[in-house]
Amino acid sequence: MRVHLVGDDITKLTSLRGMLQERCSLTSEMLCDARFDGRNIDAVVVAADLRVVDNITALKDVSAQLARVPRRIFLTNHKSRLSTVQAYALGATSVLSNTASRNQLLSKLMDQRPPSLEPSPALDGGRDAAFAGASCIASMFAAILGGGDIDVDEARRTGKRIAEVVAENGLSDWLATVRRHHEGTYQHCLLVTGVTVDFGLSLGVASHDLERLYMAAMFHDIGKAAIPLTILDKPGRLDVKERALVETHPEAGYNALKHNPAVTDEIRDAVKHHHEFLDGSGYPDALVGVSIRDLTRILTISDIFAALIEYRSYKPVMPREQAYEIIKSMDGKLEKPLVGAFREVALVR
Ligand SMILES: [Fe+2]
Ligand SMILES: [Fe+2]
Repeated sequence: MRVHLVGDDITKLTSLRGMLQERCSLTSEMLCDARFDGRNIDAVVVAADLRVVDNITALKDVSAQLARVPRRIFLTNHKSRLSTVQAYALGATSVLSNTASRNQLLSKLMDQRPPSLEPSPALDGGRDAAFAGASCIASMFAAILGGGDIDVDEARRTGKRIAEVVAENGLSDWLATVRRHHEGTYQHCLLVTGVTVDFGLSLGVASHDLERLYMAAMFHDIGKAAIPLTILDKPGRLDVKERALVETHPEAGYNALKHNPAVTDEIRDAVKHHHEFLDGSGYPDALVGVSIRDLTRILTISDIFAALIEYRSYKPVMPREQAYEIIKSMDGKLEKPLVGAFREVALVR
């Protein structure tokens, strides 16, 4: 495995070399004069303090090169949610603390995703769109955590790019690209955006309506910004307290958007209600039937499907057929004709 090390401090590079040299073919350079072009590298390990403005600028300067590397592991100095989110905004596919052990680092580097997740070759466009998408979602998280404004135009540009890639290469390639390169909440949001767009395309919606769909999908889980990763990424079941905390995210997302004039009322509503069900068993408002809008119904089906088929290192990926069977079995909760129309997206496209 060819690994390139980039650090803001020579001692970090030396220590990383010591940890990895037996298992990897290594190159390294200082972040301040990074020249790597990103080709012919399997992974890059970035060890930098993201509280330092010069480091952030230097990483932004090499973002195009970083995007070419399939696996991008950032080691951060500071164990806060904000610095983790910043690392994702700068293009990380995994984030570890710089006190991580050799084994933790190696397991991230060697994490072998199933061959079925391999996208078809020459899909750089998809990879670039996924890089931009994950970075955009992470920037929105950082804005929420830092009390700043969300960049709605960036979300629109990025959503449009994802829609173009899905329209051009198909949903299957998008799913494969995203699951191969991204983790956790960012993977999920990218999958939901791709699935929602493809659902819209299959329904034959106009381009303006497609924009409504990808904007709702890009924003739908931003309320998770403040929820600790230990809960969001927990393998297995959440306990009652953890579940209650996770269930605050639709309202938190709504609150983050409610004073933003660039976000329509319909999008805010979809963010707040994407976990509602027609029979009133959803949250946060236990809405029923007609009080759930069409856009939200489409988003909800796409969200459930994306959550079922995402890649998690601790469990096999659920086949799309099985995920669709689960959606079909949610009697009374989802709109039946829409579930019927979703069949083609789930199984064919
Ligand atoms: Fe959600
Ligand atoms: Fe979601």
